[in-house]
Amino acid sequence: MSYNLLKGKKGIIFGALNEASIAWKVAEVAHEEGAEFILTNAPVALRMGELNKLAEATGSEIVAADVTSMEDLENLFTIAEKKFGKLDFILHSIGMSINVRKKIEYTDANYDFYHKAMDISAMSFHRVMKIAKQKDIMNEWGSILALSFIAAQMAIPGYNDMSDAKALLESIARTFGYYYGKDKKVRVNTISQSPTKTTAGGGIKGFGALYEYADKNSPLGNAPAIDCANYCVMMFSDLTKYITMQNLFHDGGFSTTGLTEEIMGEL
Ligand SMILES: NC(=O)c1ccc[n+]([C@@H]2O[C@H](COP(=O)([O-])OP(=O)(O)OC[C@H]3O[C@@H](n4cnc5c(N)ncnc54)[C@H](O)[C@@H]3O)[C@@H](O)[C@H]2O)c1
Repeated sequence: MSYNLLKGKKGIIFGALNEASIAWKVAEVAHEEGAEFILTNAPVALRMGELNKLAEATGSEIVAADVTSMEDLENLFTIAEKKFGKLDFILHSIGMSINVRKKIEYTDANYDFYHKAMDISAMSFHRVMKIAKQKDIMNEWGSILALSFIAAQMAIPGYNDMSDAKALLESIARTFGYYYGKDKKVRVNTISQSPTKTTAGGGIKGFGALYEYADKNSPLGNAPAIDCANYCVMMFSDLTKYITMQNLFHDGGFSTTGLTEEIMGEL
């Protein structure tokens, strides 16, 4: 059911890789709610061709951009400016760690890989907002979101250096959000989502156990990707105008639950 929450709103959605991607679901719901947007992903991800299906279904243009490249991002925002003039929302749904992929233990981190994880998964959020702000492309009360995970607050071993990337990401949302709010009335938040079965999620060591544990230790169970998409769309809408500089948990209650009876029963 559509509420026309994003009627007339324009945006950029980073990070839809395949149907399981959280960003894919956000694009579908945003489209249903009346938004127009550009879909973007790294050139290597676009070669898989999956994104064409989503672009067709939502009437969107695809623009390639590696978020570690200022040149790619400048080009993306120039295209967005020509197409839409101003923007109302941006979704940053990007994460990648080579230490995670290669299953290198956190304490044995390879620092080139560690640096890359920070660059792709966190600093890119700063980069995106820096260009958006310099171009003055956001409308007042526009909404910028990045997706995070509770390993920014809690030690979760398999999450590796992505824990540090998420802590940095959330800090960038707060600090950039301060300046963007003061100067342009643009709001910036992160949504901390439950473990979700996606390509990025599946790369985490012990993801199956983490998924099951979080599901059992949340009174509502793990939040599905589609509900995360609904939450993102609400955050892009005018119903949430005064929410900024927050890390918002979308996790079925996991973050404030000590132990559920289900977990206790297993001990
Ligand atoms: N899956 C989970 O359990 C979970 C939980 C909480 C938060 N998140 C976060 O949600 C976001 C989306 O992840 P997902 O689970 O939908 O997985 P996903 O694998 O579908 O999405 C990750 C995306 O990052 C993109 N990406 C990687 N390197 C890039 C680069 N250099 N330039 C541009 N894009 C690049 C990938 O192409 C991919 O589209 C990530 O920030 C992730 O950390 C995921």
